[in-house]
Amino acid sequence: MKQTYITLNDGNKIPQFGMGVYMVPDGEPTKKAVLDALKLGYRHIDTAHAYQNERSVGAAVKESGIPREEIWITTKLWPSEYGEGKIMAAIDKMLARLDTEYIDLLLLHQQFRDYLGAWKDMEKAVAEGKVKSIGISNFESERLEELCQAANIKPAVLQVECHPYYAQEKLKERIAPYGTMIESWYPIGHGDKNLINEPVFTELGKKYGKTNVQIILRWHIQEGNIIFPKSTNPEHIRDNFDIFDFELTEEEMDSIRVLDKGVRFFNMSLAEQEAHLGQFVPAD
Ligand SMILES: NC(=O)c1ccc[n+]([C@@H]2O[C@H](COP(=O)([O-])OP(=O)(O)OC[C@H]3O[C@@H](n4cnc5c(N)ncnc54)[C@H](OP(=O)(O)O)[C@@H]3O)[C@@H](O)[C@H]2O)c1
Repeated sequence: MKQTYITLNDGNKIPQFGMGVYMVPDGEPTKKAVLDALKLGYRHIDTAHAYQNERSVGAAVKESGIPREEIWITTKLWPSEYGEGKIMAAIDKMLARLDTEYIDLLLLHQQFRDYLGAWKDMEKAVAEGKVKSIGISNFESERLEELCQAANIKPAVLQVECHPYYAQEKLKERIAPYGTMIESWYPIGHGDKNLINEPVFTELGKKYGKTNVQIILRWHIQEGNIIFPKSTNPEHIRDNFDIFDFELTEEEMDSIRVLDKGVRFFNMSLAEQEAHLGQFVPAD
């Protein structure tokens, strides 16, 4: 079975599986993890200006020798960069850091400050060919509908916390009218042992000859979620991608769906998030 692609609401095809590099240090650690992944067949990398490792992602993509058009690069603008008129300069700096002519998917990282002005400029960046697809991340308040209704280009994706303990069924209903797809961050609960060791994953793992994490990742794929688990461990990088040769039955999917307890791992209120944001401006 081959890795799967999802056609977004703008017609672009995103690899449904990739690797995230949140909290991976810039330099050798990011470069090595991305190169390891690309060698195994990964074709999708999720980074952000805030992660401060775009340069190493770009360097790994170049060094891999894989044609640029075969690799999907997602990155994200931080709220300090939002504002109509400011975004273009921020995108040009991103392109330079990533050492690329275009960004496959550009997201607004957080739902604060001038996100509406920022979106207008992101639409212009699509028209200019600097960005192929645009989307949002962490918009779960009423700001989600505000942005979607104001947008000429509807967000292609909404990136949020999503895993078997927090499956985001209600959010999926809210974004369905816009054709927006869910991208799951914390797909394996940021490595949470309670989630990973749930007996249902062990049981299904035995049946299919897979690890608990592989069962969770396969569940995401069959739920239609776009995922990019983070790893710097070569064995995990290899195993995480090895999920395209088996299929869970509908009954087995249901036995995982009942784990949805409405429990998040990331629990900051909007006000706390906004306060936290004020302390951080990513370096160019
Ligand atoms: N938009 C946002 O605000 C936002 C927020 C958070 C994350 N994200 C994105 O989502 C991506 C994934 O989220 P995340 O990195 O926080 O969490 P995650 O992918 O759910 O979990 C990563 C953790 O799981 C471990 N792990 C990976 N594969 C494993 C395996 N096969 N067996 C056991 N442990 C394994 C990793 O350790 P090892 O490295 O040792 O394998 C790491 O500690 C991020 O990298 C980022 O791209 C976005």
